[in-house]
Amino acid sequence: MFNALFLHQTAEGIAPRIEQVNRAELPDGEVLVAGAYSSLNYKDGLAVTGKGKIIRGAFPFIPGIDLVGQVEASSHDDFNPGDWVIQTGGGLGETRWGGYAQLQRLSSEWVVALPEGLSSHEAMVIGTAGFTAMLSVMALEHQGLEPEHGEVVVTGASGGVGSMAVALLAQRGYAVVAATGSIDAHDYLLELGAKRTVGRATLSDGPRHPLESAQWAGAIDTVGGNTLASVVARLGRHGSVAVCGNAGGFKLNTTVYPFILRGVNLLGIDSNTATRAQRAQAWSELATLPKTIFERIHAATISLADIPTWSDRITEGGVRGRVVVDVNSEVRS
Ligand SMILES: NC(=O)c1ccc[n+]([C@@H]2O[C@H](COP(=O)([O-])OP(=O)(O)OC[C@H]3O[C@@H](n4cnc5c(N)ncnc54)[C@H](OP(=O)(O)O)[C@@H]3O)[C@@H](O)[C@H]2O)c1
Repeated sequence: MFNALFLHQTAEGIAPRIEQVNRAELPDGEVLVAGAYSSLNYKDGLAVTGKGKIIRGAFPFIPGIDLVGQVEASSHDDFNPGDWVIQTGGGLGETRWGGYAQLQRLSSEWVVALPEGLSSHEAMVIGTAGFTAMLSVMALEHQGLEPEHGEVVVTGASGGVGSMAVALLAQRGYAVVAATGSIDAHDYLLELGAKRTVGRATLSDGPRHPLESAQWAGAIDTVGGNTLASVVARLGRHGSVAVCGNAGGFKLNTTVYPFILRGVNLLGIDSNTATRAQRAQAWSELATLPKTIFERIHAATISLADIPTWSDRITEGGVRGRVVVDVNSEVRS
């Protein structure tokens, strides 16, 4: 028997409870993993609070879209007992039981080895958020972005994806403009390597004209809605925006002008279905980040029991950086 956080569907909504579960009840999969850490992403917050329809499996359900742990048993040649492995996305915590458990059985398709030089805790400071930030940087560079092209803006900059995006871009030599609505996050974002910060309000009303004066060579947008529309209108010639989030809205009200008069590109990012090659490249690059970045971005390490409270917090925009979940801790923080 082991502990897991289960979500129950009740007449009043979603009810999270820590329960004991038998390993025989785990889903099918080639890799049985003793969990060490998971993390709390915005999407996890939506799942645990029931504010978003994230769970697409039968209730009761174990959420958690990230997991790092040690292989206990494996029927797949690539993984052996004792190996440290990571899974982010790939349906974990959405279509199949997720990472908020001391033991989980995984489909080998989505499992990657913990890269050399990265601790299991650091891997979950990264988690889906950092992985998505890395995929966004890779997409921008694949489209030709280079540091000398000009400033790159990151929206929702103090959140998990945003913080990692600021740090990754700065490490690669980009001049990063961090757009944030958190008035106390400016020093934090400058410490992560941002060149300057701008207030969220400068973007949140949407553009006044289909084309605004060109300001940025590239962008990573975690906010969506009017913010993304403003970014599209302010990108320079052949500028690209990696579109990865909807923390501020899912609609996009724009015109074709930025695309046909400036050659602007919208690059969609879906970390859930990233290919094996993309996963391998992203994790090997993430493993080279300086340790100080993880220390700065790490907001808290919480227990399974803390997840509901922190889920409320993250869905209200009240979390700076990244929250790690110690699945073996029984202590409420
Ligand atoms: N495409 C993918 O594969 C993928 C993967 C991971 C996450 N995501 C998405 O990316 C987004 C960010 O995820 P996360 O885990 O980084 O969440 P997070 O830690 O909660 O960060 C979101 C940030 O967005 C800003 N924000 C929140 N509410 C806002 C609002 N109403 N208007 C404008 N800005 C707002 C806040 O930053 P400031 O206070 O600094 O403004 C907040 O910290 C979410 O929409 C998530 O679903 C997508």
